[in-house]
Amino acid sequence: MIRILAIETTCDETAAAVVTDTLQVLGAVVASQDELHQRFGGVVPEIASRAHVERILPVIHQTLEHSGVQLSELDAVAVANRPGLSGSLLVGLIAAKTLCLAHDLPLIGIDHLQAHIYACQIASKINVFPCVGLIVSGGHSNLVRCDSPLDFTALGGTLDDAAGEAFDKVASMLGLGYPGGPAIEAAARGGESTRFQLPRPLLNAPDRIQFSFSGLKTAVRYQLFGSGRQMGHVSGELDRQLVADMAASFQAAVIDCLVGKAALAVEQTGFGRLCVGGGVAANGALRESLAARAERDNFALHIPPMSLCTDNAVMGAIATERFRAGKFDPLDLDISAGLVR
Ligand code: KG4
Ligand code: ZN
Repeated sequence: MIRILAIETTCDETAAAVVTDTLQVLGAVVASQDELHQRFGGVVPEIASRAHVERILPVIHQTLEHSGVQLSELDAVAVANRPGLSGSLLVGLIAAKTLCLAHDLPLIGIDHLQAHIYACQIASKINVFPCVGLIVSGGHSNLVRCDSPLDFTALGGTLDDAAGEAFDKVASMLGLGYPGGPAIEAAARGGESTRFQLPRPLLNAPDRIQFSFSGLKTAVRYQLFGSGRQMGHVSGELDRQLVADMAASFQAAVIDCLVGKAALAVEQTGFGRLCVGGGVAANGALRESLAARAERDNFALHIPPMSLCTDNAVMGAIATERFRAGKFDPLDLDISAGLVR
């Protein structure tokens, strides 16, 4: 049995897991930093990297302890080294390299977006490849063609904000907390999604697999001002309804764009299968809407449970594919903050 320690520090979660080549999870720990970034309404890169430095060793120790695995029993160390926040990525990479050097273990670099899609393979326990991948989180809104776990081509992404980022910014405008996605989803349950007419950017451009959420965010801001209310000063019975209606209207607009473009990508590739990952995939209304579209258009849909949608190290089990193929990385492996395809 191959045992790999996987490390994940691409954004604001410090995570580690010991996984096997049979996709068993021997132990996994995630330390969230939500409380540190809450008052800023978004992830502050400098705070994130400093918190990773404090947490990375305890998280690795706890993971090994839960797994009942000694460092000497590992076969490799894997780390997500792309894409993500530079300072955050560096902490995980340096920890991984140090363990490799000290314990004479091979190093495997992981593409974080590939890992998000691989979470569907782990959760469903069937071969989900080839498939279209939709990764929607605070940092990403990507549609990718996945011919196999490691063969991955970008189909399109966002021209500006990521979907989760738009959720977070609109939540902040509405005086809801951080992270904004769950707050908007909760508020939207009591709201009327047709009250505000919001744009669905690019949805009617049939040949473009792209998103744009910046204009939608501005439209929300404009309609809030247009209704005579100041941002951050929404309170009282009537205003609570306004917040709920705007949350529902905004959520519906984002979902229409995500579902529409994901379905287009599935149609264009002819793969007949969509795998979804990233924090926004936790959204119940998005899940329902994707499921309805999958049924209508007759494609298979995989959305892992919440713990495998948000950032975690279990999805680092994709490293077992590299291990099997004998593809290791040198100890001078670097990070790559942006999408390199
Ligand atoms: O994947 P993730 O945990 O971290 C990265 O950004 O990489 O995703 C976090 C994002 C945040 O923007 C958060 O607002 C969004 O996922 N999110 C949601 C929901 N839960 C988390 N967005 C919409 N609905 C949700 N229920
Ligand atoms: Zn992520």
